[in-house]
Amino acid sequence: MNQPETLASLQASVHAPSHVIHVQLLAWVRDIASLTQPDSIYWCDGSQAEYDRLCGELVKAGTFKKLSDAKRPNSYLAWSDPTDVARVEDRTYICCEKKEDAGPTNNWMAPDEMRATLQPLFTGSMRGRTMYVVPFSMGPLGSPIAHIGVELSDSPYVAVNMKIMTRMGKGALDVLGSNGEFVPCVHTVGAPLLNNAKDVAWPCNKTKYIVHYPESREIWSYGSGYGGNALLGKKCFALRIASTMGKRDGWLAEHMLILGVTNPEGKKYHVAAAFPSACGKTNFAMLIPPKGFEGWSVTTIGDDIAWIKPGADGRLYAINPEAGYFGVAPGTNDQSNFNCMASLKRDVIFTNVALTDNDDVWWEGMTKTPPAHLIDWQGNDWTPEIAGRTGAKAAHPNARFTVAATNNPALDSAWDDPKGVAIDAFIFGGRRSTTVPLVTEARNWEEGVYMAATMGSETTAAAAGQQGIVRRDPFAMLPFMGYNMSDYFAHWLGLGKKLADSGAKLPKIFTVNWFRKDANGKFVWPGFGDNMRVMAWMLERVDANSNNAKEGVEHVFGVSPRYGDLNWNGLDFSEAQFNSVISIERDAWVAEMKLHGELFEQLTHRLPAELPAIKAKLESKLQA
Ligand code: GTP
Ligand code: SPV
Ligand code: MN
Repeated sequence: MNQPETLASLQASVHAPSHVIHVQLLAWVRDIASLTQPDSIYWCDGSQAEYDRLCGELVKAGTFKKLSDAKRPNSYLAWSDPTDVARVEDRTYICCEKKEDAGPTNNWMAPDEMRATLQPLFTGSMRGRTMYVVPFSMGPLGSPIAHIGVELSDSPYVAVNMKIMTRMGKGALDVLGSNGEFVPCVHTVGAPLLNNAKDVAWPCNKTKYIVHYPESREIWSYGSGYGGNALLGKKCFALRIASTMGKRDGWLAEHMLILGVTNPEGKKYHVAAAFPSACGKTNFAMLIPPKGFEGWSVTTIGDDIAWIKPGADGRLYAINPEAGYFGVAPGTNDQSNFNCMASLKRDVIFTNVALTDNDDVWWEGMTKTPPAHLIDWQGNDWTPEIAGRTGAKAAHPNARFTVAATNNPALDSAWDDPKGVAIDAFIFGGRRSTTVPLVTEARNWEEGVYMAATMGSETTAAAAGQQGIVRRDPFAMLPFMGYNMSDYFAHWLGLGKKLADSGAKLPKIFTVNWFRKDANGKFVWPGFGDNMRVMAWMLERVDANSNNAKEGVEHVFGVSPRYGDLNWNGLDFSEAQFNSVISIERDAWVAEMKLHGELFEQLTHRLPAELPAIKAKLESKLQA
């Protein structure tokens, strides 16, 4: 009775084009289709024509509004369901066989139990919808460092965003050939349309699951259409799954921007910086050097994720696996981030920003004076008067833009070089209104790892839940770790040791904090372009033997600059102001070290012994 399965019959069963010759892929698509029961299956080719057509359909469906072609060519605005606006960390799971391999910082469920939980949810979940087959490459197509994923999603919003954020479409399928490896990613908004029911603009489900099976390298996402919950190449693949691949194979997947910076002598450095969500990566990656830094230039390689591999020469090479930016809109303006505003002039998908009366967009902080009237992200009338009275935000605080990297005028020429760029310095930074100084250089790799591991940051709107709460966010990876955090610290320590043993010069490690506030709750440090003043000092320290090297001053935690060590040209910033952002207060740090201790207690099980040893050493210095 059973016909032998031929390639042609498999292709026909899932409406695949004839160039799809990957039997395992075809069989998987067939299996997911029989589970989720979509009305139709559509294979994305990644072409501009397809993008334009899908955007047109999204306009018809009411998900997108087309913005004014005169103001913002080829751009769209989506408003999400008000309950689906950010990553859902408490619904995100790492499902490996052993709980201790996920570690105490992750939600865990046994794979069998999770599969049994998801089975009824995914059954029929795509009824009445199209299932989009979205093949994508994280990293340049065909490059040895890239990895392929295929996302099956019932959201055309996801398909068009993936076109911008990844190398998506036929090219990725071609790389797969007949038997290439891919990470299977299943995504449903969890809102089947039964009996020809009318759709809503932003379908989603109040039940949400963002699930990773690191051992079989699968991703299953249910119930959300937003950002990192739904664009599965980003946090799910390029961080959570990739971190487990990196652990096994000796490399790093990090929540880091990558930038190039060239000094007036023409020497170019590369910096990778990890700041938690909504703590300044996109802005730092697109930095424009301020007055006083003539002859310096900064170019963007990536704004959110870095894959970092040791090269044969013992240096660490970083690539950006993404092809676009899914960046925070509020706070972005011509003064804070001119390059970003220039990137957003056309070809953008905006999500949850406000609509102006002339079909353009606005968000808090875009202009000093808000427009007299807007439609806010929830579709309500908004005026400055209403905002003053009710506190209503025109844009959601986690409103974002999706735009291709190639729109960025400061894009580095090596941004998609498969070799990557050799990293000279790592920077770790949290959002801290108190305690943490503007910049500290770690004395060595181990102390740098300690500083990154114990970093705290105030929570932001990038994740659902309370905002402004200080929590430990080790390496800015708390929400993105695919395995045990203690093992990850060990992986960093081990990598440093391996490189040092090979005689290589390790990148220097720094911590920064742009966010200290004064008694009136205002940021003291001007931030943005002026962060160049700190970066220049760091690069001088990297070249410790250069003529420019400023010594700084050593304290309990490492080395920080003195007032005179920074270039203040073009900025009026007093020594007293500087002291208020660089100072280390003993009482605050005694309390801070207690929080380090709480993290270490949580992680005791496999915590590398080096870290509590460094803690003890720092504490005795602090008491001295
Ligand atoms: P994710 O995309 O969530 O990973 O965030 P990100 O780290 O790329 O953060 P982004 O650069 O988008 O900045 C988030 C918010 O912080 C925006 O509102 C920025 O305007 C603001 N911001 C960025 N850099 C600075 C800075 O140096 N100082 C101050 N005060 N605010 C900043
Ligand atoms: C973050 O939250 O760190 C982001 C946005 O970069 S999202 O893709 O939604 O995770
Ligand atoms: Mn991010």
